[in-house]
Amino acid sequence: MKNNPLAKKVETQMAPPSCAPTLPIASAGELKNNIKRMLIEQDAVLVAHYYTAPELQDLADETGGLVADSLEMARFGHAHPAKTLVVAGVRFMGETAKILNPEKRVLMPDLDATCSLDVGCPAEEFARFCDSHPGRTVVVYANTSAAVKARADWVVTSGIAVKLIDYLSKRGETILWAPDRYLGDYVRKVTGADMVLWQGACVVHEEFKADLLRVLRRQHPDAAVLVHPESPAGVIEQADVVGSTTGIIDAARQLSARKFIVATDSGILHKLRQAAPEKIFLEAPTAGAGATCESCARCPWMAMNSLEKLHEVLRHGHREIVIDEPVRRRAMLPIKRLMDFAQGQSAVPRVPDDVRVAACR
Ligand code: 13P
Ligand code: SF4
Repeated sequence: MKNNPLAKKVETQMAPPSCAPTLPIASAGELKNNIKRMLIEQDAVLVAHYYTAPELQDLADETGGLVADSLEMARFGHAHPAKTLVVAGVRFMGETAKILNPEKRVLMPDLDATCSLDVGCPAEEFARFCDSHPGRTVVVYANTSAAVKARADWVVTSGIAVKLIDYLSKRGETILWAPDRYLGDYVRKVTGADMVLWQGACVVHEEFKADLLRVLRRQHPDAAVLVHPESPAGVIEQADVVGSTTGIIDAARQLSARKFIVATDSGILHKLRQAAPEKIFLEAPTAGAGATCESCARCPWMAMNSLEKLHEVLRHGHREIVIDEPVRRRAMLPIKRLMDFAQGQSAVPRVPDDVRVAACR
């Protein structure tokens, strides 16, 4: 696709987790206590993604919040009675929470924490892409802006992509998929669906190297390989399990292997080690010989979430997600469809033609 902005790949600092500033113990403890107090006072719950810093994940667990993949984050926030959702993750996760829960206040530690898939799929360009493929069911990955979701028939997450596309394909629908080309390609191969793909990519997963993974597997023949489907095809082909972040954690728990090579953001290692403390986890390689960082799988935007910023946002309430109401209402449609589908209510009505036309014009 000629005009895809991801051709000019998003330039970013890929700081490894070890580079993140660590707080002095006393000050971190103080911050945590204040945060816990403010969460209670403000009737707020913390929902964190697996890629955020360990202290944020622990805080979510300790305060009755949740650490999860993007689908579970959305479900949990929707079902939870708290008046305020504090979303530690990237912007599309906060937006999804707001779209589903307009009556709730949705705060984020850093509103600039975006995602290369979101940045690489601007709404106007996406609309033109839709225009050039009329008649296709528009399925967008959750890692998109509210405006892009507002043009879609369905929103999907990695945890449910194969099931949903298989379902749509079996009822005779052809698909326009955006924005992750690797996930789209994987889903197309597994389901055989007729799909045209927007050519976006995740700057983290795209860096995993198939040839180096082969070498690492030879060195550790007893290791099972767990891969997030945003990775390139050559990496996915070597996987024992391809799954969302939750899928990867479940596999590590359930498989009999004692050792795993993991191809996803290294933030997940914290939960993996908690879930299966007796097992060994190796990071899949991202760089060749001579590189300063052999595995640089760290999302720079997830790394923008910190204890200090969480503390600040609860003190001032200033980083709140706001979405234009008509956009929010339209974007809610495809997200609700996803939620209903995920709940097993797959007798979802066929997308009415008028909605589909609206979505793709
Ligand atoms: P999950 O839905 O698997 O958590 O993926 C979100 C994401 O941004 C992965 O890079
Ligand atoms: Fe986006 Fe990739 Fe970061 Fe996930 S890891 S939020 S897909 S840039």
